[in-house]
Amino acid sequence: MNQDWSPDSWRQRPARQLPAYPDAAALAATERQLAAWPALVVPAETDALRERLAAVARGEAFLLQGGDCAESFDELSTANVTDTFRVILQMAVVLTYGAACPVVKVGRIAGQFAKPRSSDSETAGGVTLPSYRGDIVNGAEFTAAARTPDPQRLLRAYSHSATVLNLLRALAQGGFADLHQVHRWTADFVKRSPQGERFETLAERITDCLAFMEACGFDAASAPQLHAVSFWTSHEALQLHYEEALARRDDASGRAYGGSAHLLWIGERTREVDGAHVEFLRGLANPVGVKLGPKVTPDELLPLLDRLDPQREPGRLVLITRMGAGKLPERLPALIRAVQAAGRTPVWCCDPMHGNTVTSANGYKTRDFANVAAEVRDFFAVHAAEGSHAGGLHFEMTGQDVTECRGGAQGLTDASLAERYRSACDPRLNGSQSLELAFMAAEMLKAARR
Ligand code: PEP
Ligand code: CO
Repeated sequence: MNQDWSPDSWRQRPARQLPAYPDAAALAATERQLAAWPALVVPAETDALRERLAAVARGEAFLLQGGDCAESFDELSTANVTDTFRVILQMAVVLTYGAACPVVKVGRIAGQFAKPRSSDSETAGGVTLPSYRGDIVNGAEFTAAARTPDPQRLLRAYSHSATVLNLLRALAQGGFADLHQVHRWTADFVKRSPQGERFETLAERITDCLAFMEACGFDAASAPQLHAVSFWTSHEALQLHYEEALARRDDASGRAYGGSAHLLWIGERTREVDGAHVEFLRGLANPVGVKLGPKVTPDELLPLLDRLDPQREPGRLVLITRMGAGKLPERLPALIRAVQAAGRTPVWCCDPMHGNTVTSANGYKTRDFANVAAEVRDFFAVHAAEGSHAGGLHFEMTGQDVTECRGGAQGLTDASLAERYRSACDPRLNGSQSLELAFMAAEMLKAARR
């Protein structure tokens, strides 16, 4: 199938956004180490996700993907992971209940460490240093030592990811995600908010439904769907030395699988059809996401889809549009029509974050809740008008009580941003804003499914 592909064939292609490691031998040694360690995810899990995404593409399920813009080595804690996981569970249950639709849950987590940058270097106070490219590459501190790309960080990213994944597997399978525990998913600070109260009302109804069904003789104990959830991981496959070292050949099928996460995506800045990132991902069996900004044209998109999915495998492609509020209604219809005319049925997913980043008057990188909400609304409206499925949503969010995006029912302002702005990268929706969007999206999904 991929006779001219190998895990390292990307090295023959122009590669954007990769760091220049000063010590090639040290880099090669870490790559050998990673290649010897177990992959973090296994092919059977990845295949299961591809099957669920095929259901999303057919309009039988909905994709919910979310997490930090960038994870950080310094913020590894039970609370951090649990808070993000519980909000994704809450959003998923709001969508499942509100729209009577199964939700496929995918975290931007356990590996989301590498960041594309608009410039290779940064100058401050007359000093020029390499840009910060995420914890997997270098440190954020503006010193020559921190900014020098360090291959040891690849090993640290692996261990960090393994630790997070271990906790996520326990949370998903070990009782926390049991639908009978739905009241426990709300973080304390969200409980007191209008969104928290709205969620509590929903949780009450779910508890009543479970009690009713059990009274009717339904044996909840023997229904595994009520006691555990399937949860998959994803990140931008940007750092190709790391991704190559974790790719594994599956003996059973003979196919190559990315071993760092279940779903890998290509960013807006690295999706050239002849570039290294597309070359690497085309050879893997994993579901592959592609970010699509407002400038992409049908002529650019179709060859990319042919390259990444020549066999037209169900559930293989997730097209993640990130156009910006206002731009989506102008730009998306032509892409949908071209994809339909080509006879393709990818998952269409909306990232309402990356086209809506602005700088506040007091100097914070932020996003307005109203613009995020507007892009989501337009996404549903355009897909309905074009007769295609609005398949999923992709958010930068956290379960914590941060103040990074403006607006929402909490009415966060420029002044609020200074209170708890913690993102090392892009601004995230907080727990309450995430729930608010889920309630809104549930209404739209319900209407779309009627
Ligand atoms: C991201 O998802 O964090 C990102 C950098 O997105 P994009 O490639 O769409 O700009
Ligand atoms: Co981001």
